[in-house]
Amino acid sequence: MNYLFAGGKKAAERLCKLNDVFSKSSGFFVRNFAKRKVNVCIDLGCGTGHTTRDLTSRLCPAECVGLDNSNYFIEEARKLSKNYRQIKYRLHDVTKIPFPCKNGDVIYARFLLTHLKNPVGCIKKWGNQLNPGGMLLFEETEAIKTNIPVFQKYITIAEQMLKANENLLYIGKFLDNANYEPEFKKKLTK
Ligand SMILES: C[S@@+](CC[C@H](N)C(=O)[O-])C[C@H]1O[C@@H](n2cnc3c(N)ncnc32)[C@H](O)[C@@H]1O
Repeated sequence: MNYLFAGGKKAAERLCKLNDVFSKSSGFFVRNFAKRKVNVCIDLGCGTGHTTRDLTSRLCPAECVGLDNSNYFIEEARKLSKNYRQIKYRLHDVTKIPFPCKNGDVIYARFLLTHLKNPVGCIKKWGNQLNPGGMLLFEETEAIKTNIPVFQKYITIAEQMLKANENLLYIGKFLDNANYEPEFKKKLTK
């Protein structure tokens, strides 16, 4: 399964910009939900590791593992995370379980589900990779509103590219309304 915006340096720069915009709100999100001590944290679709490093600084886990199926991103993530002894990266297709690491107390993903073919099926599988009492935390897009023409154009192109790959840009509502039983009782909070 290919990530549409994959590539080398340009794609890595794009992830850097993405993090500049979302790092702060992601911080509020994870701190709000992950209140208990986190021993193992897993970052799915970690890209170049912005989210993995932020999770490590924010949740102080003993171990944080970033998984991604892009060799380029994993190599970059390793270079950028040299000063974080708790972080490990593994090249792995996250639609496949078991993950190549211990089970997590927190399994997190930002802007990953929008790229997967069977996101609900994946979420159900991922529950098996949690420790008892563990949490799945996801950040995805429900809507984007902008009056700036260049962004409108960008969003239209991104939406069409995702659609051609049978993916949804605005996957938030779809995930909210999906049925996760019998694997999970859903507790949704916005
Ligand atoms: C939009 S990027 C988000 C990166 C990171 N979570 C962030 O917010 O900075 C999506 C990431 O998911 C990864 N990805 C997509 N499909 C994947 C799969 N099946 N297994 C592992 N990683 C995947 C891509 O390589 C990419 O790094």
